Parts: sequence; structure tokens; C-alpha cells
Amino acid sequence: MGMHLRRADADDLAALLVIESVSYPEPWDEATFRSFLANPSAVCLVLVDEPGIIGYALGLTSLGMSQLLSIAVFPARRGSGLATQLLDALVAECRARGASYMRLEVRSANRSARRLYDAYGFSMIGLRPRYYGDDDALIMSLNL
Ligand SMILES: CC(C)(COP(=O)(O)OP(=O)(O)OC[C@H]1O[C@@H](n2cnc3c(N)ncnc32)[C@H](O)[C@@H]1OP(=O)(O)O)[C@@H](O)C(=O)NCCC(=O)NCCS
Repeated sequence: MGMHLRRADADDLAALLVIESVSYPEPWDEATFRSFLANPSAVCLVLVDEPGIIGYALGLTSLGMSQLLSIAVFPARRGSGLATQLLDALVAECRARGASYMRLEVRSANRSARRLYDAYGFSMIGLRPRYYGDDDALIMSLNL
């Protein structure tokens, strides 16, 4: 079938947890993913290629606003525009659900993610000092 994007479902939990564990110092657990997959306001998209899921993006949309909760690409596949593809699809889905902007929080030390969001057109609109204990959170926003 080649590389493609689709909605995540409960059968994807194991693969999502693998990407999560190699992407974040404090990965979400299975119960957290399960509750998002069951939440009608949540959109979880996966990027699939041989041999399976190589990335995911998770957003929440309600009352015309959307939030990017998480985006991750399997380490060996980073730097090839895959997160940008995931963001494109997530933005399209959030827009279709009536959102007019998307917000996110990112660790100030997360250079790859900040480059991704800057290149995508997000603007910094706020700062939460020491939000992560050891690091500040930057708040960024994109008009959809
Ligand atoms: C952040 C993350 C999702 C980026 O995934 P990716 O597939 O490598 O991103 P892309 O290839 O789509 O990058 C998009 C742009 O960001 C920039 N960029 C991303 N990673 C970069 C890197 N390591 N070095 C240089 N530029 C980078 C580039 O400008 C790139 O644009 P280009 O491809 O036109 O040059 C990935 O590094 C990841 O999974 N990190 C761990 C999880 C995480 O921190 N998520 C974000 C939480 S807020």
C-alpha cells in the first residue's frame, strides 16, 4: 500500500507506546492513549510504512480551538518531512471540525520540535517559566 496516513484505533496501542517510549523522557502510558482514542474531541493520526507505524500526531478540538497534544516520529525516520506531513493532516482534520487556530506547548530545549513548528508557521505567544520543572514551556499558535 506504500506510506499512508490513517486514524489510529485501539489495535495501534502497542506501536504507539513504542514510538512514545523512544521519543519522550516521560512517555504517556497505555491508559492515557486509550482515553484519547475513546475521546470524540481527540484526533489521533498515524503514519504507516513498512514495517508498521512510524509516527503519530494527536490533537484535541472543541469550541473552534484545537491543541496539538503530541507529535512523534520514529527516530530512524526523522528529518525527512514526516512530522510536517502529520501536521498537515492534523491541521486539515481540525479545520474540518471547525477550529480556527491550533495551540501547542513545547519545551524550550526541544530544538527539533521548535524548528518544526517555526518552519510550519507557528508563532510564539507565551512562556510558562519552569512549567516542566527543569525547563520552560513555550506556547505557540497557528491560525488555521
Ligand atoms: C519533533 C519531531 C516530531 C520532528 O519530526 P521530523 O519528522 O524529523 O520533522 P520534519 O522532518 O517534518 O521536520 C520539519 C522541519 O523541522 C526542521 N527540523 C526538524 N528536525 C530537525 C533536525 N533534527 N535538525 C534540523 N532541522 C530539523 C526542519 O526545518 C524541517 O524542515 P525541512 O525538512 O524542510 O528542512 C521529531 O524530532 C520527534 O519525534 N521528536 C521527539 C518527540 C517530540 O519532541 N515531539 C514534539 C513535542 S512538543
